[in-house]
Amino acid sequence: AIAAAIVPAAGSGVRLGPGTPKALRPLNGTPLLVHAVRALARARAIGLVVVVAPPDRTEAVRALLDQQPAPPPVEQMVVPGGATRQESVRLGLAAVPESIEVVLVHDAARPLVPVDTVDAVVAAVRAGAPAVVPALPVTDTVKQVGPAPEGRLPGGPEPVVGTPDRSLLRAVQTPQGFDRATLAKAHELHADATGATGATDDAALVERLGVPVVLVPGHEEAFKVTRPLDLVLAEAVLARRRL
Ligand code: C5P
Repeated sequence: AIAAAIVPAAGSGVRLGPGTPKALRPLNGTPLLVHAVRALARARAIGLVVVVAPPDRTEAVRALLDQQPAPPPVEQMVVPGGATRQESVRLGLAAVPESIEVVLVHDAARPLVPVDTVDAVVAAVRAGAPAVVPALPVTDTVKQVGPAPEGRLPGGPEPVVGTPDRSLLRAVQTPQGFDRATLAKAHELHADATGATGATDDAALVERLGVPVVLVPGHEEAFKVTRPLDLVLAEAVLARRRL
């Protein structure tokens, strides 16, 4: 049985600077989204990729994927996204045929995820885990701050309220993999009328169901392109791969 991958790519990417939506920004001349789709399609298990595009660019994204000189040997679909990442994922999931039982969600903004990481996530779901997340140890010490008090100046000094034990923290990546029914239920139960959930990843919604989520080793090359410096790093990783 094949697995499907949903690629939320409908974000604007303001942190990367003004311009085209982040998923369409070029990395080595090729949009981030195209890199991400190729990375997923390299995994034997993936038979369908559903790209969730900015609503005003659905046709352009479809054309972009069709134009690729070597289209990957997987089925590709493009659907319009929503106002939040979670709404985009929900719209992508609605397009996945019911018969597909393993569904991955992978950020377009993680263009360089190695195929071994994708394979490991699919394998863990197939082995019976309802929710699987690739993760790495946290290298920076992390401080917790209080909720923003009224009147605190943006960029001004922030009072620290605690320092969580770093050895108990993990930084999580995508693709996150799910048993389809679990992911569908998590999204149904936690989306409000606008589709918003307040969650920054899909596994958090599954955690709220009380369903166990497990981690598998992530990979440093699965980093998310968020800020301009991340594009510099991504170019360097690609250059090293070509050696
Ligand atoms: O903003 P962030 O970097 O967390 O976005 C993660 C992913 O979610 C990106 O690939 C982005 O395109 C996607 N997204 C989306 N729909 C939105 C907002 C973000 O598909 N409305």
